[in-house]
Formats: sequence, C-alpha cells, structure tokens
Amino acid sequence: MRDWLPPQFYALKHMEDVLSRVAESFGYRRVETPVVEHFEVLAKKAGQEVINEIYYFKDKAGRDLGLRFDMTVPVARALSYSLDMPRPVRWYYFTKVFRYDEPQHGRYREFYQFGIELVGSASPRAEAEVLHVLAESLSAAGAADYVVKINDRRAVDKMLEALGLSAYRDVIYRALDKKLKLPREEVVAVMTSGGVPRDKAEKIYDMTSEMPLQEAADHLTRLDQSLGAHYAKLVKYLDASTGLGGFRFDMSIVRGLDYYTGIVFEAFAGEYKLAVGGGGRYDDLLELYSGVKTPALGFAIGVERLMEAVGLHNVEKPLDYYIYIFDDEAYPQAAAVAKKLRSAGFSVAVELGEKSLKEAFEYILKIGTRYLIIIGKKELERGVVKIRDLQKREEYEKPINEL
Ligand code: HAM
Repeated sequence: MRDWLPPQFYALKHMEDVLSRVAESFGYRRVETPVVEHFEVLAKKAGQEVINEIYYFKDKAGRDLGLRFDMTVPVARALSYSLDMPRPVRWYYFTKVFRYDEPQHGRYREFYQFGIELVGSASPRAEAEVLHVLAESLSAAGAADYVVKINDRRAVDKMLEALGLSAYRDVIYRALDKKLKLPREEVVAVMTSGGVPRDKAEKIYDMTSEMPLQEAADHLTRLDQSLGAHYAKLVKYLDASTGLGGFRFDMSIVRGLDYYTGIVFEAFAGEYKLAVGGGGRYDDLLELYSGVKTPALGFAIGVERLMEAVGLHNVEKPLDYYIYIFDDEAYPQAAAVAKKLRSAGFSVAVELGEKSLKEAFEYILKIGTRYLIIIGKKELERGVVKIRDLQKREEYEKPINEL
C-alpha cells in the first residue's frame, strides 16, 4: 500500500480526469460502492486464486467480511437490487480495490482501478464498444502504443473438448494464464504436473498462438460456426470504430478470474511488461446475486501500472500567491488582498510571521510559487502592493483597489 503525497496525488487526479472524460463521453456514469462486502458475496465466483487474495476479517458482530478485490462483483451485487433499471446499464468507476497479493513491482495490496461495466447486452456491438472504450482510455492516458490481446473462453473449451481434455480445464487455464510470463518448458510442466499427457500439453502450447484479429473469425469458425459468425461481426464493428490497430487474437489469454464466460482480453502498454488492463464477458455472474440471467461485460485498468507505463509520476501544483508582510500592522491589508485573490480562484498563502524576507523567498522557491506579494510600511502608506513575478523575474507595484 502506498502513500500519495501531493505531487503523486495530482498525477493520479490527472489520470482520473482523463479517464473519466473518456467513459463519460461514451455515456457511462460513475458509480461507487462500499469497500467492505460480505465475504460470501466476494467469494461466489472469484476462483480459488483470487479468493486467497481477499482481505478477510470478522467484524464485532462476528460477520465474515472482506475488502472488494475488484468492482465487477460489487457492481453485480448492487445491480441485483435494481432489476427494473433500464438496460443496458453503462457504469464506470475509478476507485480503490484490495488484494492480498505478493507485493512486488506493479503489484500492490491497495490499488486503483478505472473500469467500465456494460450490463444487459449479449450483442457483439457491446463487445466492440467496450474494447473501443478501452482503446480510447489507453490512448487518452498517453499509451497510444497499446496492444490488446483478445481470446474467447468458449474457443479454448471447444479446443479442449476436441482434444479430449475437458477434465483438465482448470490446470490448462492456469498454465495458459502463465504463457506470457514463463518459458515454454515451465508452462508445459504446469500442465503435465496436473496430469495432462506431455504430447498434448505441447500441442496446446503450440495451438494457442497469437494472430491478427482479422484472422480470428476464420480460426474460430473451424472450432464453432456460431462463434466464428459472432467474431466476424465484432471485428467489423471494432474495425469501424478503431481501425483494429493494436488488437490481436491470442488463444493463450484466459484470465485468472472465474466469472468469465466468453470473450476475455488483456491490455499492454508499450514496453511495460505487466498487463495494464483486462476484462471480458461474465454472463452468469449477475444471476448469482439476482436470480435473473443477465449478459454483461467490462474491463478494468490498473491505474498505478498505467501511470508507470506512461511515465506519469508527479504533477506539481505551485502556489499562485505568497503574501509577505514585515509585521502585524499590515496583517489586515494582507488578509484583504488574500481574500480578494482567493475569491478570484487563486491559491494564496500568507506569511505566518516566523521568516525573514530572505527565508520566505527561499521557501517559496522550494515549494514553487508564481507571485510574491510584499506589503511593507511604504506600500501600506501608499495603498499599493509590490508584486514579484517569479517566473518572468519582474517586479512592479499595483494599487490594492486594482488587484
Ligand atoms: P484484473 O485483470 O484482475 O481484472 O485487474 C485489472 C487490472 O488491475 C490488471 O490488468 C492490472 O493492471 C491491475 N492489477 C491487478 N492486480 C494488481 C495489483 N496487485 N497491483 C496493481 N495493479 C493490479 C479485474 O479486476 C476485472 N474486474 C476486470 C473486469 C471488469 N472484467 C470485467 N469487467
């Protein structure tokens, strides 16, 4: 978990503004939920790996609670109380989530996710829209060199069925999920140690290769006619909105979360090694909370990772005005000037009476300040202030009533 000191916080805030603007421009509206959920709600369809990462505790009444590990589950829960809400629902979030992950580079235990959820549509246009918002978000954040790797869990399941390996689905998913991180030998070893015959494990490794998204429909048609037809449409829509640059089809993308049922994808930015985002379709999740089957999909971006990938670390926010007075006599004047400037929208700090002019000057250079206002005895008598523009290195006087 990390502290966000002001320059880092303003960098985060900048990300929040940029990403929110993208989501809002597609008609998504912001949602927030409690960080605490019933453990049972969180654990319903997370999958064992994620369940192990849930911050779990009992409250004073002995209830089993946990901190949310993502926003998809809280959104699904919240929507189960609003079944009459007109569909599709377009929501987005920029907020903290928690995972008891092994802390390392790019892996925090408390981190921010920006994401969207599009609930109530099974259309390939919904998929094209979500991928389009993802692409726009990454571009707007400064990662125009994104790569989004797309797959479909149904395609992997069909392949396993054809190879007679459906019984090994879990271990094969786990192995494929490591394909981008581990060498071939180790990925194959994950499968063989789970009981998959070696020749078949190698076959799966080789069959799950990457290809241009344009080839996905043909490839999928060979596994399943209707899946191929669905992707032919998706690719057509996505091409119209994004030109398909940056999108790839990659059969090794399966994702760690258990709730996915169809399309899944992961996003990368430039040279940055870890995924900056991920998402997919989870058509069975809402039913777990509401009893009503509702198709849905979305994505989330790891904000810290994206900031790291685009090199956004600090945004300095200098003070507009620092008012220096030599003694209490000028304090009413300083207070009046400060009030005037603040109400005009500027940030203003008044000297606390503990620094010499030289010390105050050194201080404001360090904290970053645009203007220094000095009100001395002479200025007081003449009803003016002395203004030093620290950027232009100019000094001039101005009557107080003209400020
Ligand atoms: P996820 O892939 O688990 O998906 O997380 C999304 C993104 O959060 C990741 O791509 C990564 O950038 C970031 N992330 C994950 N774990 C950490 C960590 N420990 N520290 C820093 N960043 C991290 C989800 O959470 C799904 N809810 C996405 C989704 C939305 N699917 C459908 N709708």
